[in-house]
Amino acid sequence: MDDSDSIRATGDAGVPPTGAPTIAEVIARRLSRRALLGGMAAAVGAAAMGRGGAALALGPASTTFAEIAHGLDERDHLPEGYRSQVLLRWGDRVAPDAPAFAVDRQSAAAQERQFGYNCDYVAFLPLPAAGGSSDHGLLFVNHEYTIAGLMFPGIGPGREAALAASAVQSAIEIAAHGGSVVEVRRGPDGWRTTAGRYNRRITGTTPTLVSGPAAGHPRMRTSADPTGRHVLGTLSNCAGGVTPWGTVLTCEENINGCFAAPRSAGGDAAMLRRYTIAERAWYAWPRHFDRFDVAREPHEPNRFGWVVEIDPYDPASVPVKRTALGRFKHECASCVVDGDGRVVVYQGDDQRFEYVYKFVTRDAWDPADAARNRDLLDHGTLHVARFHDDGRLEWLPLVHGQGPLTAANGLADQGEVAMFARRAADLVGATPMDRPEDVEPNPVTGRVYVMLTGNANRKASQRDAANPRADNRHGHVLEIVPPTRDGRPDHGAAEARWEIFLLAGRPGVDAGARYHPATSSEGWLSRPDNCAFDREGRIWMATDDAGATAGVADGLYVADTTGPGRALARLFYQAPIGAEVTGPCFTPDGTTLFLSVQHPGQWEGSSFEAPATRWPDFAPDMPPRPSVIAITRDGGGPIGS
Ligand code: FEO
Ligand code: CA
Ligand code: CA
Ligand code: CA
Repeated sequence: MDDSDSIRATGDAGVPPTGAPTIAEVIARRLSRRALLGGMAAAVGAAAMGRGGAALALGPASTTFAEIAHGLDERDHLPEGYRSQVLLRWGDRVAPDAPAFAVDRQSAAAQERQFGYNCDYVAFLPLPAAGGSSDHGLLFVNHEYTIAGLMFPGIGPGREAALAASAVQSAIEIAAHGGSVVEVRRGPDGWRTTAGRYNRRITGTTPTLVSGPAAGHPRMRTSADPTGRHVLGTLSNCAGGVTPWGTVLTCEENINGCFAAPRSAGGDAAMLRRYTIAERAWYAWPRHFDRFDVAREPHEPNRFGWVVEIDPYDPASVPVKRTALGRFKHECASCVVDGDGRVVVYQGDDQRFEYVYKFVTRDAWDPADAARNRDLLDHGTLHVARFHDDGRLEWLPLVHGQGPLTAANGLADQGEVAMFARRAADLVGATPMDRPEDVEPNPVTGRVYVMLTGNANRKASQRDAANPRADNRHGHVLEIVPPTRDGRPDHGAAEARWEIFLLAGRPGVDAGARYHPATSSEGWLSRPDNCAFDREGRIWMATDDAGATAGVADGLYVADTTGPGRALARLFYQAPIGAEVTGPCFTPDGTTLFLSVQHPGQWEGSSFEAPATRWPDFAPDMPPRPSVIAITRDGGGPIGS
């Protein structure tokens, strides 16, 4: 989600970090010198366009579908020859004993067993019993946030109105955060969900354990949990990752929205501010539940903002907050196994002027020893990125006692370095970025893509080579090139190189927009957020809030990452009005693409009674429902090729 836009329930102005020197006035030199690998230049809508329909010329792109046209309406759109199916909607049955959804008779008890709100990250996990088939597996889906004004009658549009939610409605909202595990199967009629034994909901009240350096820390203790090791639930679950051992990492992002910290609250005001926990929450929760009121429970916010590991294959497993990976507004946690067997987890902290991180495990992953892998994420080193203007990337370790990470600077131990990773990253001089969202390795090339949604607050004097535009409202995509060792990308290395992959925005309209020169008038994008890679190594980029910045619906765009079509973006999917596209996920065979269509109808003035769209049901009494869709090709075959 976007926490910085006026139509969103925010209140979060973003706090520019301190102590991080910004390298200035450098960009133009680097951009013009390197000419953006692959011959990119300022793009100028070069492909032929069919009016109101498909762009005709493919140019050097390797994808073969007929590109759709930018637009904005109540429905979603795909190229000819592709179909989508609504697989899981808010309120659909997840647990086998879940009641059918009744929008006029909602309860927390029902929501705890039904598909949550605002689906985001999607992972497809093959079932060993199904032989690893791409037609039968588990979906893990995140539920990022709730919109009371679209979920419940009588609330009305806007963020002020949402604060009027009742205790019952607030409990439903808390039950609508978290994640869902759902067994899915593809048959002759398409995809279906199954009420299988794996199906479960994880919510804002599911018992959860804490492990790693912050477990049991005095600043993790509350009146309900004097041990600092047992947290009720996971909240604000945005993107995530899958570990090599088959567990899911779900990432707690905009947790500031859950808490209210009145000025009189006491506690650590500087750290509350650093994590943008403000006087007002986005939700009514602090009025109804003491733990969200920082005046009553000063440490509860420290228990959120983590990466949470869940074993989707064991419905009785207890989710674990892996604190070694740091606490911030986690977008994602993308795992890759390094040549020496250590696991590297790339992470973005999604806020303006925040950082890109990676965690490197101390020990190697052992495919033959599940027990040994169980706590692999508890031991290792968190690093934060410094992007040098000469194309060098330095990974700075965040280790207590090293450099400025000392008690004198407010970090008493490694638990506090993890808990206040933003502070630690400020101290070591990380590079403040334009809202890091997904940070994902391309499994074909080993290059790592950093999706930067944008940062309209960046001033000209704050530009650097990796964030080259002031007032960057459209965002950009960076590419990290790890060094190689024994012919393989060395993700654990202390340094890497970086390049700009594309600069988003409307070519010829928005200063500095850059794609492959053959990009069509439909291929430009605004506000890249999540990404996924297909079997050819192409990048599929989902956008967040292009309606506010460019007046078009959010969509899913694909571009080659190598070859003559590199950075030639093409529009594949257009979302319904108000919706953000999240969680792109391919089945291993590449023939199904799952997408989360998040917050359809979230638009100025839109409410339960009068929503901007009623997608996907279009039933007169049903508000829009965030949903996961499954996209396939008529007659089968890999998506995009
Ligand atoms: Fe929840 Fe950073 O998007
Ligand atoms: Ca976002
Ligand atoms: Ca996101
Ligand atoms: Ca992703």
